[in-house]
Amino acid sequence: MGKWVSNTLILGKRCMYTKGLIFLNGTGVELHQSLLLRAYRGEKTARPPVWFMRQAGRYLPEYRELRKKHSMLEAIRTPELAAEITLQPLKRFEFDGSIIFADILTPLIEMGVELDFVEKEGPKIFNPIRSSADVERLVIPDPTTNAAYTFHAIEIVSRELSNRNIPLLGFCGAPFTLASYLIEGGGSKSLLATKRFMFTEPEAWAKLQQKLVAVLSGYLIEQARHGAAALQIFDSWLGYLNPGQFERWVVPGLKALITAVKAATDVPIIFFSTDSSTLLPQIKELGADVIGVDWRVPLSAADRLLGSRFPLQGNLDPTALFGSRDYLEKEVRQVIESGRELKSHIFNLGHGILPETPIANVEFVIGLIKSISQ
Ligand code: CP3
Repeated sequence: MGKWVSNTLILGKRCMYTKGLIFLNGTGVELHQSLLLRAYRGEKTARPPVWFMRQAGRYLPEYRELRKKHSMLEAIRTPELAAEITLQPLKRFEFDGSIIFADILTPLIEMGVELDFVEKEGPKIFNPIRSSADVERLVIPDPTTNAAYTFHAIEIVSRELSNRNIPLLGFCGAPFTLASYLIEGGGSKSLLATKRFMFTEPEAWAKLQQKLVAVLSGYLIEQARHGAAALQIFDSWLGYLNPGQFERWVVPGLKALITAVKAATDVPIIFFSTDSSTLLPQIKELGADVIGVDWRVPLSAADRLLGSRFPLQGNLDPTALFGSRDYLEKEVRQVIESGRELKSHIFNLGHGILPETPIANVEFVIGLIKSISQ
């Protein structure tokens, strides 16, 4: 018999059992003790673990090189390529965590959503949702085979990382942010079409949320089963809602999603949203384990609004990486200082890293964090 660590029975380096799921890839005793997972569980660590949202991507020349030969969808749907891109930043920098290369939109493809990533424009959906009949048409695929290329990529990466003690995060988009893409058909400045749909088609909206919850919960659970050691939910467009709208149209779906994932796995769930400091008192009640804080709100203020209950992840302004070394160093030290007052702190950016970011400054920030201990 193995040994119990928290709710998990460790059966060997590569095999553990958590609430009915057997993990065969990469999540062993060492990983459980990694800085990142300890901080996600709420333990104070000597220094904050660090990873960056969108750490695999266009600011890296090796990523841009690979993308010359392969489209975005091709890169995501080829497990070996997705694994290679995931590992690119870890070859250059000493990040304490990694995040699987995919996109929030890919698990929607097998629901019948036709999409592509258009150069310089971003994601585009060719058959957007405009009516309740469109919602009815969305298929709920088998979770074990939906976007299975991402599960294979997770297996490859977690095998590669198991001897470096670096946890791999899985992720998904939140039902609201994904519904916005589905309805708008792409990016939008006001989310007018989404909000009009919410306000005029409440039943179709509820049905859409339900369908997304069904697909996303399966998608997250499968990622954990294939080796993801933590799961992040991205609700990037939440800032378009006021607290009343959030409560009525969005909170039920988020709670259902988190509850379903929690019933099947014990991996920590991080909830990240942007421009949502007015919603933090409600975000506190969603059931997430860790809250990702965007760069607009000081960590200390976010912590107060969250009742000082959570490990917080964040929140250096991604544009600080374009500042002078002096400015950048002050900003990083400020984030670390605020982090000391929290239950536990995971250093990250307050939103994804920008494509033009100077690589030397990324290295500088990681070095600085690693040189500081509490
Ligand atoms: O390293 C990582 O963080 C993992 C990969 C990842 C991508 N997208 C790859 C990607 C993650 C976690 C995402 C999440 C995502 N995708 C979000 C939530 C996070 C956030 O930044 O708010 C959102 C809103 C999307 C939707 C999306 N995908 C947009 C708006 C865009 C175009 C704008 C942009 O940043 O390029 C994408 C394309 C995309 N997803 C790229 C990457 C690396 C760029 C593709 C390319 O041109 O090579």
